[in-house]
Amino acid sequence: MNERENGGGFYITTPIYYVNDVPHIGHAYTTIACDALARWHRTIGHVTRFLTGTDEHGQKIEQTAQKRGMTPIELCDEVVVNIQKLWPLLEVSNDDFIRTTEERHTKVVQYFFKTLLDKGDIYKGNYEGWYCLPCETYFPDAQVDERRLCPDCGRPLTKMSEESYFFRLSNYAEKLIAHYEKHPDAIMPQARYNEVLSFIRGGLQDLSVSRTTLKWGIPVPGDDKHVIYVWLDALVNYISALGYPQPGGLWETHWPNARHMVGKDIIRFHAVIWPAILMAMGLNPPLRVFAHGWWTVEGDKMSKSKGNVADPFEMTELYGADAFRYFLLREVPFGNDGDFSELGMAHRINSDLANDLGNLLNRTLQMIEKYRGGRLPADDCLTRAKETDRSVALTASRTIERMKAEMDEFALDSALKTLWALIAAGNKYIDETEPWKLGSLSRDDLREPEGRLDVILRTLWEILRLSAILLHPFMPETAGEIWAQLGLGPDAFSSEEALLSRWVWGHCPSPVSVKKGEVLFPRIDIPKWKDEKAQRDAGKRPAAEPSAAVPDAACGEKFDEIGIADFKKLEIRVARIERAETVEKSDKLYKLHVDLGTRKRVIVSGIREQFSAEELIGKRVLILCNLKPAKLRGVTSEGMLLAAEATEGGKTTYSLATVSDGFPLGSLIS
Ligand code: MSP
Repeated sequence: MNERENGGGFYITTPIYYVNDVPHIGHAYTTIACDALARWHRTIGHVTRFLTGTDEHGQKIEQTAQKRGMTPIELCDEVVVNIQKLWPLLEVSNDDFIRTTEERHTKVVQYFFKTLLDKGDIYKGNYEGWYCLPCETYFPDAQVDERRLCPDCGRPLTKMSEESYFFRLSNYAEKLIAHYEKHPDAIMPQARYNEVLSFIRGGLQDLSVSRTTLKWGIPVPGDDKHVIYVWLDALVNYISALGYPQPGGLWETHWPNARHMVGKDIIRFHAVIWPAILMAMGLNPPLRVFAHGWWTVEGDKMSKSKGNVADPFEMTELYGADAFRYFLLREVPFGNDGDFSELGMAHRINSDLANDLGNLLNRTLQMIEKYRGGRLPADDCLTRAKETDRSVALTASRTIERMKAEMDEFALDSALKTLWALIAAGNKYIDETEPWKLGSLSRDDLREPEGRLDVILRTLWEILRLSAILLHPFMPETAGEIWAQLGLGPDAFSSEEALLSRWVWGHCPSPVSVKKGEVLFPRIDIPKWKDEKAQRDAGKRPAAEPSAAVPDAACGEKFDEIGIADFKKLEIRVARIERAETVEKSDKLYKLHVDLGTRKRVIVSGIREQFSAEELIGKRVLILCNLKPAKLRGVTSEGMLLAAEATEGGKTTYSLATVSDGFPLGSLIS
């Protein structure tokens, strides 16, 4: 345990995600890793807090909003949903979700700025340098070669000069070095520690912390011409979400235990700039910044233009959240880069989840059902345990201790390997003790001395019980399912703290009857899977479904099934029609002005033959908002009005999809 820890508390944060990005496996990875850590710490009884959120200020949002004819906050409100709806699907148990546009955040950022200004750690000066628009970062001449490309992202830089406030980062190099020399585990893995330290030793320059080139940011207190640099704004989220600086706020308990999980690309912001700012504020630097590696997909860098962005919604839909979580956390040594391959995931599901874990559960429960009518042998039978049985019990307790040490190091993949060694030991124990031979004997048969079968069955059940507890942080749903099949009731994991007391070998309420249920992970038929994947890639239909075209019971027609992930891509919202104008040179089209609550849109719709403008005005209708804009008779339509369509006797009529009067505008259809 780290010497600076405060009473074993655990506060973990993800980076706050750019709100306009469509979430991909990189985002899912960080968040799932934090979730596993948070759940683990709750399980072992630590006071735990887990924060995630979105980074909503900056030039990109400002520009996109402008292009789309909306205000930046309207854009943020619209797109934040993409990220927010992913976390419950992935069983992410965050305690809070912070948006940098919330007042609870903006006022703390201003408080930081003002405090540092008053202390002289921030001063006003002039900045001239090479600026990268996408990274929102200035680079000094020394870092830019004659190609004038961004050293981080490789895109062209622009020469800019502006009045700016600066943070005296240069004053903190020595203090940071001293801090990291004293706390070598404050940056992990080791390679990142070395990288950061040598960067600091190379000397630090003062950092420009304000911009006059954009409006969409938090104003510098007392100097509205400037907005606060988006990275300073963003970093403060970790403590603003804890109610800093209010006396008695959550920050008092949790800040001393702060750990940040980040991707390797943003380590310097977290391990250099942020700790220096905290030091300047008189606050302790984070206990640990852990930088994980990056995922490629099938050997290639993910990019929208290549169309190879692995979609966490789709993966969850196809394989389930738990298998996806397991694969991400198990596949790659945590901290290293990894390559995501769906085939690799299918193989892992078969070997680790269906074979190892699934078989241990099935075989055990089948035998308890067959030989003991489903009733678990009482724990007193364990007093007759032999060396073989005691040795698996020992493996189980060592597993716990080892996993604790590995989780302390954030070695999530190693912790899973350790757990799987226990599962393998369970399967081996069955093979070695051959309980089926005893099962075929009667209870009174002398060849089944002293209820030997009871000891074996109980030992196996204990392995599974402890495995479920240890598995829960990684695969919450599966752990709950195992728990239920073991006969331990459905809600064991609702209070993770309670699990600590249940770790004792042989501890459980009795009597217990097992409830063998569905196979946890059905084996994936790889050749069939490959065919389905090829079809899916060709955009035909989702994999893992029995047939592409399913007869619709009502009308006998065939339709292509889609998964929920596909449906969730549609952003259908409630809007009120405000005005309906005719479109020139068309007798069918209306130009409808609709109000979506936080924004207005123009929708072109071919319903003029049937509805008068008066009939339409005031109606609350459904609009597909994220349809690519299209020009109809010279008018750009920013979405589609939804209506049922029927054609009879060559005449088409429409019935508008509406919602009841007064229903809130902008509500999402789900
Ligand atoms: N908004 C900043 C973070 C501010 S934190 C105070 C940001 N946002 S981001 O959305 O671009 O990235 C969030 C995280 O996703 C980063 O940690 C980044 O490393 C991670 N990833 C982005 N692509 C990734 C992969 N291909 N693989 C793994 N993680 C990746 O940066």
